[in-house]
Amino acid sequence: MLRVNRVNKIQGIIAVPGDKSISHRSIMLASISKGETVIENFLRGEDCLSTIDCCRGLGIRIEEEGKKIIVYGNGLSGLKEPEDVLNVGNSGTTIRLLSGILAGQEFLTIITGDSSIRRRPMARIATPLREMGAIIEGRDNGRLAPLSIKGGGLKAIDYTLPVSSAQVKSAIMLAGLFANGNTKVTETTQSRDHTERMLKAFGGNVKKEDNTIIISKSDLYGQTVEVPGDISSAAFFMVAAAAMPGSNLTIQKVGLNPTRTGIIDVLKKMGADIEMENSFVSGGEEIGDIIIRGCKLVGTCIEKEIIPRLIDEIPVIAVAAALAEGKTTITGAEELKFKESNRITAMVTEMKKLGINITELTDGMEIEGPNIIGGGNVESYGDHRIAMAMAICGLFANDTVKISNSECISISFPQFEERLKEITL
Ligand code: S3P
Repeated sequence: MLRVNRVNKIQGIIAVPGDKSISHRSIMLASISKGETVIENFLRGEDCLSTIDCCRGLGIRIEEEGKKIIVYGNGLSGLKEPEDVLNVGNSGTTIRLLSGILAGQEFLTIITGDSSIRRRPMARIATPLREMGAIIEGRDNGRLAPLSIKGGGLKAIDYTLPVSSAQVKSAIMLAGLFANGNTKVTETTQSRDHTERMLKAFGGNVKKEDNTIIISKSDLYGQTVEVPGDISSAAFFMVAAAAMPGSNLTIQKVGLNPTRTGIIDVLKKMGADIEMENSFVSGGEEIGDIIIRGCKLVGTCIEKEIIPRLIDEIPVIAVAAALAEGKTTITGAEELKFKESNRITAMVTEMKKLGINITELTDGMEIEGPNIIGGGNVESYGDHRIAMAMAICGLFANDTVKISNSECISISFPQFEERLKEITL
């Protein structure tokens, strides 16, 4: 159980762990590339360690030297039939992206995960991958894991994503690497584009025309990847510093890919004092320092178009909204129901326990602020981002906030508590 108490201000210069999305992709692309890939600042959180385990299960040699990982890729046709079931733990990115690669393999793989993964929707990847020619079975006609995947002989498809999802887009793109012809994926709202950027850096044949990505069979070559700090982890401290007058926090070397920076736009709209400094580009990804000074925030309106650019930050944005003056409305965020937990119900239920004026909507939530946050016992639902968002509530509460089942934080941010102690006064 994590206990968090009120603090006076947030201050310091810190770094956050490596980006989760980029860490996963670096292991997967390296595994199907020719030659060695060295990954610096890899996120050693449980989700990304699951990706390493699964790729090892597929016969790839991966060595770990602290935060540096070396992957000895075997090329596009170098994976081997796993001897046992692959287990992705809690990681949706692992099961969905890896399924795209497995669709290109003639051997059989059975892939599953923890109870949260076994509740999450898989038809969204099974449908397009079956259309490409993969044989995919699973519980409830392939809607739920465990999934069995037997692929090979794929043909290219032209697919428009029914929901904005970087995981589905990436699964199809990765399968497209093994398919005959040009695979086209169209998205109506841009989701994170790390797969596109990294595939290009590894020599993949990928281009973009308007909102359609076109990919064809291409060999990939091992690279050096420098993983930027995860803006989704930085977000917890950004909100704490932005909403606490007198705070002054610098978070160094954070990934600032524009498909991920919706949190910065929203906090600025709420009146936050945020600046970016020392920006540079590495491996096709923008990186920079974020400087946040605390002040009073105001409520805002967050609608469908921006949701993919801040989807994982909504729990902590709800905390910012609770502290802001006026009403905040979040709509068009149905996808939150299909994350590690139902994040709409989870945040509304737990924030209410601390006396926050919050209402559940079918596709989001409405929060009336500012609130005097009380102490109490709250639940994480085994969801790392719910646990950390509730910890940020505790920094503003007039009594201790106790978060049960908080060990799930190690899924994306194993050093969360330590970093928090370093920056709170
Ligand atoms: C991710 C994409 C998003 C995000 C998840 C990571 C990725 O999921 O919520 O945490 O690495 O591609 P969806 O693609 O389901 O929106």
